[in-house]
Amino acid sequence: MFLKEIYTQRRDALMSKIKGGLLILPGNTESSMNYPSNTYHFRQDSSFSYFTGLEIPNLALIIDLDSKVSTLYGDDFEIDDIIWMGPQPSIVDLASTCGIKSTAAYGDFEKVIKEAALAGKTIHYLPPYRGETKIQLNAILGIPFDLLKEKASMEFIKAVVSLREVKHPYEIEQIEKACHTGYKMHTSAMKLCNPGVYEREIAGVLEGIAIGDGGCVSFPVILSQHGETLHNHDHSQKLETGKLLLIDCGAENGQNYCSDNTRTVPVGGKFSPIQKTIYEIALKANMDCIAAVKPGVKFIDVHFLACKVIAEGLIKQGLMKGDADAAVKAGAHTLFMPHGLGHMMGMDVHDMENLGEDNVGYDSNTTRSDQFGTAYVRLGKELKPGFVVTIEPGIYFIPTLIDIWKKEGKHTEFINYDKLEEFKTFGGIRIEDDVLVTENGGRVLGTPIPKTVAEIEEIMK
Ligand code: GLY
Ligand code: MN
Ligand code: MN
Repeated sequence: MFLKEIYTQRRDALMSKIKGGLLILPGNTESSMNYPSNTYHFRQDSSFSYFTGLEIPNLALIIDLDSKVSTLYGDDFEIDDIIWMGPQPSIVDLASTCGIKSTAAYGDFEKVIKEAALAGKTIHYLPPYRGETKIQLNAILGIPFDLLKEKASMEFIKAVVSLREVKHPYEIEQIEKACHTGYKMHTSAMKLCNPGVYEREIAGVLEGIAIGDGGCVSFPVILSQHGETLHNHDHSQKLETGKLLLIDCGAENGQNYCSDNTRTVPVGGKFSPIQKTIYEIALKANMDCIAAVKPGVKFIDVHFLACKVIAEGLIKQGLMKGDADAAVKAGAHTLFMPHGLGHMMGMDVHDMENLGEDNVGYDSNTTRSDQFGTAYVRLGKELKPGFVVTIEPGIYFIPTLIDIWKKEGKHTEFINYDKLEEFKTFGGIRIEDDVLVTENGGRVLGTPIPKTVAEIEEIMK
């Protein structure tokens, strides 16, 4: 946990942004896997964690904007719990660790909200994403499940986004810790990437490293020789010489701060000439985009820079044709990169995505495209110092998509479908780094993970 003053400052800043009523913030509860007491790894709600630092289930927070009082709701553990769980801090002790003076029983959370609603106070809540929280809010507020998301408080959402999107130096320190674990995960994967090894063996080692460093993985490991499937969680295949292995993984440290990196490496340690050529196009996109990060730049423009570098590279290789700018404008490049350049990262690997992608990644000056592929861009708005973003261009050869586009005769003026036939077993490449927007540019966070062809081949020797 950070010092309690930090949580007090965060709640004060939040209060200063919203006019009146109650801000209600239920923490996460335990979630059962296969029978009630066999639960998934507990993960606190990131906003609850941001404003309290408390990583314990069954707590809730109300910030009364009129009286300016924050109250922590929770029940003290009883001896029956302590026998199974060991000694536990009291709710009063927990509250004091984050600068909260007022506490009450968990059951009062519902009572206080209902009374405030009856008295005509505005009840602000964030969009719930877990079944348990939806049931709780439905019971308290009487809002039907299918309306809970749209009735969430836009003022509350915008205030939380404006606070959490700018990372303070003490948060960057935490992210860099997670990045360092990510470095260990990636370099270990590179060393293990030999023919005959199963993908799942490497995925298991990566998860172990994240847990061993005191946290966990920041999202389920993506590790596959079928890197053309963007988020491939299937780890069942045996590694074969000649294939590329795409590894997209990161760590979440004990305070929920994340890392998220992708590397793509040749099984056995040596890129073939064509793998090297395509890899270096993706690498140029990655490095040019990192160099383009600075305050005032719109991230959507950095995204299009990646698209242009990729189109230019593929034109040079005869996989695309025509003018790169025209191809990108038409959306022809989305056959090869049907996703956005990156996203915000912080206490969630896709930071605050539960608050609505558009509320985090777009604003009144930047609206989401509806073009295939470009519509997936999660982050488009102008960058500010303190943002942490991922830069993750990719080049994928997705056989089903190639076949569909070819059959439809899509973008035939920009795509050489005949030449593409040879690439249907190539797989996919993605190269992802985590970048802090500084006062005048961008800084890649963490210990540098081998990225050039020479660096990767060297560590895999
Ligand atoms: N780790 C998923 C992503 O890169 O967005
Ligand atoms: Mn990733
Ligand atoms: Mn990412």
